[in-house]
Amino acid sequence: MIPPDLPAELKAALDAKLEGVSRNEVAARAAAISRTYRDGGTSLAIRSATDALAYALARMPATYAAVGACLNALSEARPAFAPQTLLDVGAGPGTASWAAGAAFPSLTSFALLDANAALRTLALELQRASRRFGDVKYDASEARSALNGAEAADLVVASYLVGELGDAERESLADAMWARTGDTLVVIEPGTPAGYARIVSLRGRLIAAGAHVAAPCPHDAACPLPSPDWCHFSRRLARSRAHKQAKGADLPFEDERFSYVALTRAPITLRASRVLAQPLVGKAAVSAKLCTPAGLAVTKVPRRDRAAYATARHWRWGDAVREKS
Ligand SMILES: C[S@@+](CC[C@H](N)C(=O)[O-])C[C@H]1O[C@@H](n2cnc3c(N)ncnc32)[C@H](O)[C@@H]1O
Repeated sequence: MIPPDLPAELKAALDAKLEGVSRNEVAARAAAISRTYRDGGTSLAIRSATDALAYALARMPATYAAVGACLNALSEARPAFAPQTLLDVGAGPGTASWAAGAAFPSLTSFALLDANAALRTLALELQRASRRFGDVKYDASEARSALNGAEAADLVVASYLVGELGDAERESLADAMWARTGDTLVVIEPGTPAGYARIVSLRGRLIAAGAHVAAPCPHDAACPLPSPDWCHFSRRLARSRAHKQAKGADLPFEDERFSYVALTRAPITLRASRVLAQPLVGKAAVSAKLCTPAGLAVTKVPRRDRAAYATARHWRWGDAVREKS
């Protein structure tokens, strides 16, 4: 299981890139890019080397933490999964490749693709700081056309990409990514109702094409959450000084909310329920909202059931848990 913090080599490489660069300029560019995102824009706002660095300092810690959490959930659902090849679609500064490299020591080949030349340059510079990335290819192209010519990979990841495309493009991207998936596809989006809706739609489309859900859902049925509820998770990460400066933030931590799905070609045999919100630990019982293989449930684990209560007290939002039958 990988921790939420950026690997030391990546932190050091980002710090080294900051040397001689105006912190104020980086913070101003990070703020402008994040305003663009809030106003519904995309990473087209990232054009220069400073933009790419500002984006990486402001967002890589959080997206790394989110991707790491999803890969941890995948490993828990499929402990024997040991991918050798990775395809990181919409790779940007290479965040998902760093997380996958840490989560899966078995990975030997990393293929990245992204339309943004400034982010590609930064990603390659950062990856040079680590021996982990011996065999790296980074294709600076539009994802759907590049996927047609890409080799299939054991693990395909698209982190915070799908929301940058229009509706029709999303469907063809989903199909193209699945076509290149040898074993497992992981798609991560912001943990907003809109991000969740994109995950649900891609999930349904690819289940119809033969995919099975490894995480977070313990079933391949339609999502049982009634609107306006939405399935999302949260990971807390510490902020470094450079991260705080880039974001103009004082708090020493941030909570990244994300929605995701991990889809595999092999059916999952043993499926654990998923904790959908932070459980309430009361004196009489632990009360938890769960997605179970049979659908949505609000489970109460009474204190009188001492062993089960002791276990349930440690349940956390996002955990895969096995209830007593
Ligand atoms: C929000 S960033 C996420 C980057 C990275 N995956 C991460 O999690 O840090 C979205 C990335 O998708 C890329 N992108 C958006 N539309 C694309 C497309 N049609 N083809 C290739 N890349 C695209 C952008 O250039 C950008 O790098």
